[in-house]
Amino acid sequence: VLLMKIFVWEKFSHQSKFQTKFYHYGTFPDDFQWGVSSSSYQVEGGWDADGKGPSMWDTFTHTPGTVLNGDTGDVACDSYNRFEEDLYMLRALKVKAYRLSLSWPRLFPNGYRASLNMKGVDYYNRLIDGLIAYNITPMVTLYHWDLPQTLQDINGWDNVDMIDIFNDYCDFCFQTFGDRVKFWMTFNEPYAIAWVGYGLGELPPNVKSPGDAPYRVAHNLLKAHAKAYHTYDEKYRKTQQGLVSISVSSEWFEPLDVNIPREVAAADRALQFQLGWFAHPIFKNGDYPDAMKWQVGNKSELQGLAESRLPTFTEEEKAYIHGTADVFCLNSYTTRMARHVIPRLSTQSYEYDQDLTVQDVSDSHATAKKELRAAAWGLRRLLNWIKEEYGNPEIYITENGVSTDTSKTVDDPDRIFFLKTYIDEALKAHNLDEVRLKGYTAWSLLDSFEWLSGYSVGFGLHHIDFTHPDRPRTPKRSAHLYHQIIRQNGFPL
Ligand code: NOJ
Repeated sequence: VLLMKIFVWEKFSHQSKFQTKFYHYGTFPDDFQWGVSSSSYQVEGGWDADGKGPSMWDTFTHTPGTVLNGDTGDVACDSYNRFEEDLYMLRALKVKAYRLSLSWPRLFPNGYRASLNMKGVDYYNRLIDGLIAYNITPMVTLYHWDLPQTLQDINGWDNVDMIDIFNDYCDFCFQTFGDRVKFWMTFNEPYAIAWVGYGLGELPPNVKSPGDAPYRVAHNLLKAHAKAYHTYDEKYRKTQQGLVSISVSSEWFEPLDVNIPREVAAADRALQFQLGWFAHPIFKNGDYPDAMKWQVGNKSELQGLAESRLPTFTEEEKAYIHGTADVFCLNSYTTRMARHVIPRLSTQSYEYDQDLTVQDVSDSHATAKKELRAAAWGLRRLLNWIKEEYGNPEIYITENGVSTDTSKTVDDPDRIFFLKTYIDEALKAHNLDEVRLKGYTAWSLLDSFEWLSGYSVGFGLHHIDFTHPDRPRTPKRSAHLYHQIIRQNGFPL
């Protein structure tokens, strides 16, 4: 690992475009949108309170043997009852924005509008009003993975009917909250929904069908996103004047050897498979990246399949999808090395679709892999790549952060190091490379339900005692650091 670190540092510190001092001092513009991020299932709890319906995550966590230590989101941070405490912490941090998500089954217990639960509407009204009262901009994700179970029962995102069903839900949310919410994201990490949910099968609905299901699901997600965007455009934009986007996720992929063309191509392909899968249709031309068409489309006979596994869009659909985001929202946590993977001709293995990426040079679970340092330079490269690839869009980093062991209470030097270096690289991208970076919402306000890891690790700026019924919140040292960065708008000399 040490040799790898030296190798990486030696190799990349010489590349001219990004050659600058390790730390860059400077500030963001005054209107830079500093914030923190969270999601409904991870913080709210109240899983069956006041008429809420079950989500597929409730079903999953209630099944023994799924989540580490049998943890569930039943109570989580209890933000359903304690959002005033969250508001207090947001004020103390002096953030300008709070990114939250709406729980679909809290609003529509069975997924459909006819099941409307007014208690759920009241909850989000109180939360949104509270934010506005403190001058904090709500940034709202419509879908952060907690699908109503009833909709999973009809096959979830693998069912084309979901496009209209999702649109009805979004339409309701725009109509109900859009007078105050001016920043919408349709999906959080469609890559995770499609690939981790339907390819690797690790997240609910745990379908392990990497050959084709993820591509069908992504196709539906893209159409559902575009439909919701057009609904906003046609019915609400004029009166509400907000922004609509989608939070896509990607690591930065660095070629294992920049001098070998096929390794460089592999790194680019990895980016196209993760980020381009969704960003290329939406921001570039309504269609999938060529790398995907080549690898999953017409080359699929290499795996003994007669037909392309990648669905196609009609010209009309392409025009409908292209341009359906007002800004670029990015979740990014780490940097990885990519290397070319030779397809195994004789097996039905789909690993090579995305090129197996090897060798994490940093990791979002800092304490778990102490030897790996945060490779924040990858964020700057990723921001530059987005700038070049998608015509210099305005960018918001909607998630970035690091997890630490939750038993370690409030002393979190790893997070302090991570935040400083990542925000500094974002600052370089903004100030030196003219990337149009408009905001940064750190993941996350609180230690919360970290999906398969339960409560064993946390990304929070605030520690929570999950054994205590009151779920007491305590700022970590990183919360003070972040507050200082926000107050100074960066790192003034
Ligand atoms: C991505 C997801 O959007 C979020 O829910 C999760 O907690 C973080 N990454 C950290 O794993």
